[in-house]
Amino acid sequence: MDLEDHVGDVLMKARVQAGYGLDAVAAVAGLSAAELAELERTGRTARPPNYGSLGRLLDLVPEKLETLARGWRPAPVDLSRWRELRMFTTRAGDFSVNSYLIWDEVTREAALFDTGFDAAPVLETIETERLQLQHVFLTHGHSDHVAALEAVCGRHARARLHSGSRSAPLHQRLRPDEFIPLGNLRISYRETPGHAEDGVTYLIGNWPEDAPPVAVVGDALFAGSMGRVPGDAASAREVIRRQILSLPPETLLCPGHGPLTTVAEERAHNPFF
Ligand SMILES: [Fe+2]
Repeated sequence: MDLEDHVGDVLMKARVQAGYGLDAVAAVAGLSAAELAELERTGRTARPPNYGSLGRLLDLVPEKLETLARGWRPAPVDLSRWRELRMFTTRAGDFSVNSYLIWDEVTREAALFDTGFDAAPVLETIETERLQLQHVFLTHGHSDHVAALEAVCGRHARARLHSGSRSAPLHQRLRPDEFIPLGNLRISYRETPGHAEDGVTYLIGNWPEDAPPVAVVGDALFAGSMGRVPGDAASAREVIRRQILSLPPETLLCPGHGPLTTVAEERAHNPFF
């Protein structure tokens, strides 16, 4: 799976976060505005920019930018370590979004994290694995993540819906101290606002055979990048550092777009941190 963001996307997001126009950043990068625009659009330029100066201006780590520009990808994750975890990538036109299904191997109780665009592959897995969908957890309310909610809940009316939204009815709202069992698995949550005001990261622990913990992060963090932040970008980065990158290094990170990654990979390679 391709990264959600190439090095040009990362530069563009950081430039917008910092409030700079193309001309100011191009001058620092040693490029023309047209060359920087091309780099932001395609991730490539005829001449390499000065990543050192760019990083200092945009609060990005220059070495990590260069590694990303050279084609870094997170090491492929062997999902067989988490036998009761499935990743679904569904599409609408040019857009794709990830959702995740987990279950307990004995009780067959299941939980879905975001619905994606199309409920069919999730519903099919629930059927073939003979699961009972108990919970639907939303990482945030953006339309691509919840598009198939009606289709899922229509077939599994008893599943409880959870989100970080303040406008959700009280019985659906999560509490920070809430700890939800799913058979032997344990689900908890951390608030991760920034990309979305209602952004939540779900942690799933106590996997069989000591498989590492899993964090479903929505669009807070992508492999090598982060989701667009409409508001205060510095506090969004701080939230990610505190709530996600502080997890054990082997934690599997499941983003809303792009490939799976780990806390160790992102600490070592994400230019925003
Ligand atoms: Fe989003």
